[in-house]
Amino acid sequence: MGLKTWIACAALGATVVTGAGVAVAQDGKAAENAVKVRKAQMQIYAYNLGVLGAMAKGQLPYDAETATNAANSLAAASGMRIPGAWLPGTDSESFEGSRALPAIWENGDDVRAKAVALWEASTDLSDAAGMGLDEMKAAFGPVGGACGACHKAYRAPAN
Ligand code: HEC
Repeated sequence: MGLKTWIACAALGATVVTGAGVAVAQDGKAAENAVKVRKAQMQIYAYNLGVLGAMAKGQLPYDAETATNAANSLAAASGMRIPGAWLPGTDSESFEGSRALPAIWENGDDVRAKAVALWEASTDLSDAAGMGLDEMKAAFGPVGGACGACHKAYRAPAN
């Protein structure tokens, strides 16, 4: 099985968690850790996308090595499978400080598809990032789109 197929099978998904019968968050510490870890993963996405976005906007000079590092980090982070970070009982209605909508735990297949879409767009960006500013910019859009598609469906608005 190729890496891409493996990731497609293994990418984060709420059904992985519920299907495996992992216990619902029983104590505050487990819930807190789960939310912390998934937010950390998102922060790694945002940091690296920010570097590339600044280059795309001309706020940071394009540099092939810096762009490749950022894109590779984003792709690696989006390929991380951490089902425990999506512990049932840590949705926005159950856990203060979470914006993860309860719908995530009802639509595991769709959430997983959106995570895989991000991973695919990120690996394309990884391939393109070092090839020049125009190539990087062309591959950047689909990544931003993949972030937005999941947030629109599954992230509660900021208060
Ligand atoms: C599969 C769905 C999904 C994808 C894809 C996704 N996100 Fe998120 N993101 C979420 C959810 C759900 C939350 C809310 C988590 C919470 O508050 O518990 C979130 C939260 C965040 C946060 C806030 C983290 C914090 O510290 O509170 C940032 C920043 C973020 N995402 C950036 C990104 C970026 C950038 C991308 C694309 C490179 C991305 N996300 C892709 C679902 C996704």
